[in-house]
Amino acid sequence: MVLSKYTDVIDLADMGTDWWLDVVKLASDIYDDPGKYAHAADGKIMATLFYEPSTRTQMSFQTAMLRLGGTIIGFDNPATSSVAKGENLKDTTKIVSSYADIMVMRHPAEGAAKAAALTADCPIINAGDGSHCHPSQTLLDMLTLYKEKGRLTDLTIGLCGDLRNGRTVHSMCKALCGFKGIKFVMISTPELGMPQYIKDRLNSAGCAYEEVRSLEDAIGSLDVLYMTRVQKERFADREEYYEQKGAYCLDRNKLNMGRSDLIVMHPLPRVDEIPMDVDDDPRALYFKQAKYGVYARMALVLTVLNEPRRSMPLLTGKEYTGTRCKNPKCITRKEYYLPQFFRGSGDLLECEYCDERQLV
Ligand code: NCD
Repeated sequence: MVLSKYTDVIDLADMGTDWWLDVVKLASDIYDDPGKYAHAADGKIMATLFYEPSTRTQMSFQTAMLRLGGTIIGFDNPATSSVAKGENLKDTTKIVSSYADIMVMRHPAEGAAKAAALTADCPIINAGDGSHCHPSQTLLDMLTLYKEKGRLTDLTIGLCGDLRNGRTVHSMCKALCGFKGIKFVMISTPELGMPQYIKDRLNSAGCAYEEVRSLEDAIGSLDVLYMTRVQKERFADREEYYEQKGAYCLDRNKLNMGRSDLIVMHPLPRVDEIPMDVDDDPRALYFKQAKYGVYARMALVLTVLNEPRRSMPLLTGKEYTGTRCKNPKCITRKEYYLPQFFRGSGDLLECEYCDERQLV
């Protein structure tokens, strides 16, 4: 077992439900009275390392730190850092983590945050690793449900669009599957369907879900509709992207088939899955959801800064030298020095960085 020295937030599934429920409650308190927390992080430095484009996640983390009284350093374009000279992930994150009190990282490779956490010298928060996870988005999604629906239980949640590549819906399933009365309705084409490992997690948690194709048929039964864009940058084959693009569009006609207490969420950015004339419908909550992101991230940053040295299990399985993860998007396929750890036994192993199942 490899433990981290710090309170790393790589995947919400690593922390107990109580831990992040406390974060959601703290976020709610900060939302109600932000002035109380204006100096909570005085003198602290947050580094934001964004190897992939971002508007909301990066700026809301930065705003969160500034509103807590802290300061920020970092890059939003690796081309302007030593990454452009060929520096590996370990060296960049090792150095930056020695400058900062907390590090927030987004990276296109799956498992990158965990890889960085193996050697970093401060806590790291995963701000999205490829198609894999996006835990801070899930915290703000939970804050939105908590504030707007008043509960995190007994909800029928439709997830619509690119469920294969969308990291936000993966993290949401992993986090909410432990709550009573949650049912997911997965609305996608077969090509954009939810990965099997997520469905297996739901099955083992006893969380109900169904997979359907038609948004029109499903919308009337939903408390929450979580729309997602088709993730163009994750398709190796452009043709395949153009076949799937435009698969779902929540226009006013479809929205009118939803209940009056439905809420429509979207992590943003949207492309063409929600036309702009839907924005004025009181059920369209996505802009407010993005605003909740600042408060959710203030609570997350504060929680980690207040307890930075809670050691987290990073690698719990066994090292297999000479075996590589078969997922081409896994960080271990780019950074060869990383120890290759898998969970499970026999022929079927699960990569500890990206969760991909494989026969070895
Ligand atoms: C999401 C992401 O980056 O995964 N956006 C975000 O963080 N607000 C969703 C997306 O890019 O489609």
